[in-house]
Amino acid sequence: MINDFIYEIPTKVYFGKNQLHRLGQELSHFGQRVLLTYGGGSIKTSGLYDNVVNEIRSSKLDLFELGGIAPNPRIDSVREGAAICKRENIDVLLAVGGGSTIDATKWMAAGACVDFDPWKFFSDNVRVEKALPVCSVLTLSGTGSEMDGGGVITNPQTHEKIGRGSKLLVPKVSFLDPTNTYTVNAYQTACGSVDMMSHIIEVYFHPERDLEMLDHVMEGLLKTVIKFAPMAMEEPENYEARANLMWTSSWAINGFISSGKRHEWSCHPIEHELSAFYDITHGLGLAILTPRWMEYVLDEDNVEPFYQFAVNVFGVDPKLPKMDVAKEGIKRLSDFFFHTLKLSSTLHELGIDDKNFEVMANKACQGNVLKGFKTLTPQDVENIYRMCL
Ligand code: NZQ
Ligand code: ZN
Repeated sequence: MINDFIYEIPTKVYFGKNQLHRLGQELSHFGQRVLLTYGGGSIKTSGLYDNVVNEIRSSKLDLFELGGIAPNPRIDSVREGAAICKRENIDVLLAVGGGSTIDATKWMAAGACVDFDPWKFFSDNVRVEKALPVCSVLTLSGTGSEMDGGGVITNPQTHEKIGRGSKLLVPKVSFLDPTNTYTVNAYQTACGSVDMMSHIIEVYFHPERDLEMLDHVMEGLLKTVIKFAPMAMEEPENYEARANLMWTSSWAINGFISSGKRHEWSCHPIEHELSAFYDITHGLGLAILTPRWMEYVLDEDNVEPFYQFAVNVFGVDPKLPKMDVAKEGIKRLSDFFFHTLKLSSTLHELGIDDKNFEVMANKACQGNVLKGFKTLTPQDVENIYRMCL
C-alpha cells in the first residue's frame, strides 16, 4: 500500500568548499545576537572556529558562545544554552559540530522559549510550540541532524537517552563543507557511516510494500556508503569520499526516503539504551546490534526485503535459495562493519555484561512493545542484547 504523505524539507543547504562567506549574511536574516555552540574543541584545533568567528564578526553581529557540548549530549548543556539565550536575548543559534552539538543546540532553541525545565520535553513529551532559529555548520557526517528536526538528549542522573523532534527544530540553514570532515578520525568516520546506513536500514525494512522507487534510492545510498566509507578512512582528505558521505548522511534521514512510511524504528531505540547506560558511541552500538537484530527477526514470512537487500546492495547471487541469500546479505553487512570498518563486534569487547539488559529492554520498549518491522517484546529485545555479548 502506498500511503499519502507530505514532503517538506525546509533546510537551505550550502554544500561545498567555498560557501562560508555567506554565513554572516544568512545569520543576519534572523537577527543581531548569535549564540555559537560547539563541542570539546575539535573546531579550535582544525581552525574552523576562527573562520566562523571571523565571519560573524565581520558581519557586525554580536557573538555569544557555549562550548564543551559532549558526545551523547547532556541535558545540563541544554539547560545552560537555554539560560544564555534568555539572559542575552539571543536571536539565532549557530551549532558548529557533529550531531551532538547540533542536537543539543536544537533543544536550547526550544528551551529558550519556555519557562519550564527543558527535560520536560523528553520526560513528559511536551510538544514544541515555539523555538529560536537554528543554523548549523556540520563537521561529522552521520546523524543527519543538519537536515532533520530530531535531537537526542541524555540525562545521566536517570540513565535515560531520549530522542524527540519537531518541525520547528529543523535547521534553517546548514553549511555542508566536506573539507570540515577531513580531521574526523577513522573510528568516528566508521561510526558515522554505520549511523547513516542504519537510518536507511530502519526505513528499508518496512512491513508494508511501498514505493519501489524509494527502495532503489535507499539501495543506492547504502552502496554509496559501502564504497566511500573505507576510502575516507584510508585517505581522510579524499574530497570525493567525504562529499559523498556528507550528502548521504543528510538524505538518509531528512524525510525523503521515509515518505509515507509509518512504522517505528527498531535498532535505534535498542541502541539508545546502550548509549544511555554505557555512554558508547551511537554508531558503534548500531554496528553491533543491527546484524543481530536482522538475524533475530528474519523468518520465512519476511524474507523478501532481506533477499532484495542482499542482492541489490551486496550483489549476492539471486539464483540461490531465498533464505540462503538473505543470510548471506546479513553476513556481508557484518563483514563490512567488523572487518572493513574495523569496529568492535561484541558488547563484551566494550566491557558490557548482561546485568542491565532486563531494565534496558523494558526501557527500549517503553513498558510495552517495539512496533517496528517486526513487533518485539522486552524479552525479544533482551535476547537481541544477549546475541551481542
Ligand atoms: O566535541 P568535539 O571536540 O567536536 O569532537 C567530536 C566528538 O568527540 C568529534 N568530532 C566531530 N567533528 C570532528 C570531530 N573530530 C575531529 N574533526 C571533526 N571535524 O567526534 C566526536 C563525536 O562527535 P558527535 O557530535 O558526538 O558525533 P555524531 O555526529 O555521531 O553525533 C552523535 C549524537 O547524535 C545522536 C546520537 O544519538 C548521538 O547522541 N543522533 C542524532 C540524530 C538526529 N538528530 O536525527 C539521529 C541519530 O540516529 C542519532 O541518534
Ligand atoms: Zn542514528
